Amino acid sequence: MTIISKDIPKAIRLLTDENVVAIPTETVYGLAGNIYSSKAIKSIFSTKNRPFYNPLIVHIHSITALEDIVTHVPEKAARLASAFWPGSMTLVLPKHNAIPDLITAGKNTVAVRIPNHPLTLDLLSKLPFPLAAPSANPFGSISPTTPKHVEHYFKNEIKQILDGGSCTKGIESTIIGFENEKPVIYRLGALSLEAIEAVVGKVEIKNKKESNPNAPGMLGRHYAPCTKTILSHSILKDLDTYQDNSVGLISFTQTFKHTSINTQINLSAKGNMEEAAANLYNALHTLDHLKLDVIIAENLPNYGLGQSINDRLQRATFTK
Ligand code: TXA
Ligand code: MG
Repeated sequence: MTIISKDIPKAIRLLTDENVVAIPTETVYGLAGNIYSSKAIKSIFSTKNRPFYNPLIVHIHSITALEDIVTHVPEKAARLASAFWPGSMTLVLPKHNAIPDLITAGKNTVAVRIPNHPLTLDLLSKLPFPLAAPSANPFGSISPTTPKHVEHYFKNEIKQILDGGSCTKGIESTIIGFENEKPVIYRLGALSLEAIEAVVGKVEIKNKKESNPNAPGMLGRHYAPCTKTILSHSILKDLDTYQDNSVGLISFTQTFKHTSINTQINLSAKGNMEEAAANLYNALHTLDHLKLDVIIAENLPNYGLGQSINDRLQRATFTK
C-alpha cells in the first residue's frame, strides 16, 4: 500500500530502515533514499528501472552539510550556492571519499543541491544522513509534479509519498558543473540561464549527450509521454496536418480553434514563463492519460524559462 501523507516521523522511520520514500521538492517529486545505504540506493535504481551509469543528485539541508559531500568548492560555485540555495540549482563538484560509487556512477564528481520545499527541508534537518533523489518517474518518462503522478507510476511499489502538494517550479533543477573552475551548464532547468549569468557572468551550455561525457543523463529522448508528441513552431499548420486525428494541444498563451482539437491546455494565459513551467508536466500527464492520437506542444520564446521548457519539449518529442 502506498500512503500519501504529510507524516514526517513515518518518513524518517522508513528512510532509517533503508526504504525508499517519494519526497516533494519545489522542482519535481524525488524518489529518496539514504545515500549511505546500498540497499536503499539499489532499490531507487530498480524501482525507476534506471541504468547504473546515470548518477543521482544528493539532497542536503544546509551549506554546512556540503563539507561531508564535496572536497572543493570553486569560488564561483560558492557565489552561486549563496545566491540560489535553497533552490532549483544542482552543483556538480569533486566528491568526498565517503560518497558511494553507486551514487556517482563511479565518477569523481557528485551532484548536490539544497531543495526549497519546507516539508523536505524539515525532513532533511531531522535525518542524520543526506538523501539521494532522482525524479520519481520510471526512467525516460515525464517527471511527477503532484503526489498523484507519483502514485500513478509506483502504486504499491513504495510505502509513502510525502505530500507536499503541487511543485511550484514544475521542471527539474538547473545542473552546473565546473571545468577549470569555470561554470558549465549540464542541464537547463528551473533556474534560468539569465539568473545564473547575473551572478557569475557568461556561462557555457553543454547539455547534449554527444558533446559532453560529463553529463551522462542527458539523453536525446527523455521526459516523454507514451502518446506521440510533436513540438510545434506553427500550431495552425500542424493542426491541419493532423486534421483526421484527435489532438491534445499544449499552447503557451493563445487559445486555438480547430476541429481536430480534442483537449487544449493553455500553460499561461498571462504569458508568464514561470507559470508555464509550473503547469507543463501536469499538462503532459493529463493529455497522455487521454490516449489521444497526438499531442502537439507549442515552442516557447527561447529565453528565460522558455529556453528550459523548450529543452524538455525537444527531449519529449525526440524520435531518432
Ligand atoms: O530537480 C531535480 O534536480 C530533481 C529533484 C528531485 O531534486 N532531481 C532530478 O534527478 O531531476 P534526476 O536523477 O532525474 O536527474 C539527475 C541528473 C541526471 O541527468 C544525471 O546524469 C545528472 O543529474 N548528474 C548526477 N550526478 C552527476 C555528475 N556527477 N556529473 C554530471 N551529471 C550528474
Ligand atoms: Mg529525471
